[in-house]
Amino acid sequence: MSIDIRPITPDDVPAIASLARTTWLNAYANILSPEQIDYMLAQRYDHARLRTEAGDPQKWLRQACLDGILAGFAACEIHKGEFKLDKLYIHPDMQRKGIGAALVNHVATLARERGFSAMILAVNKQNEQGIHAYTQYGFRVRDKTVTDIGNGFVMDDYIMEKTL
Ligand SMILES: CC(C)(COP(=O)(O)OP(=O)(O)OC[C@H]1O[C@@H](n2cnc3c(N)ncnc32)[C@H](O)[C@@H]1OP(=O)(O)O)[C@@H](O)C(=O)NCCC(=O)NCCS
Repeated sequence: MSIDIRPITPDDVPAIASLARTTWLNAYANILSPEQIDYMLAQRYDHARLRTEAGDPQKWLRQACLDGILAGFAACEIHKGEFKLDKLYIHPDMQRKGIGAALVNHVATLARERGFSAMILAVNKQNEQGIHAYTQYGFRVRDKTVTDIGNGFVMDDYIMEKTL
């Protein structure tokens, strides 16, 4: 089993957006309403927006392939001066094979190389699978936040932090 991690290019965007939809529908079915999932996917995985992000030197988008097949992706950015893991999604059929761990290790190295001593993320308070995985990766809950994302929807999250 070989996990290969490389940057997401503009050409990869349709496959990444499709993987995001599959993973979100699976992961958030019991956490978010179908309307909120559609709203957030449209906001965050708009192809033009993703293509711009893929070319932004202040964002790091990475895809992981398992034996040559796209299995997951991560996206990081600087948020208010902190290095933030903004997205981490592994296809439901490929979860628990260490791909999330490999992506977190990869982006932790990117952060360290840029002088950051910690990495943060936001995770839905009800996302037990995500919180469990992040705890395994060395993240700890630092804070809680409720963010109004428009259209009557909110994100009810923990902020977690991992020392690098
Ligand atoms: C959470 C996620 C990124 C972890 O990536 P992964 O490649 O599946 O996980 P790994 O193989 O690196 O395993 C890390 C830990 O995750 C946990 N985990 C992963 N999948 C799990 C599942 N289906 N059920 C319960 N725990 C799970 C386990 O604790 C595992 O460690 P352990 O087996 O030693 O206990 C991935 O499962 C995923 O994409 N989930 C759905 C989307 C999501 O919640 N993303 C995070 C959004 S903020």
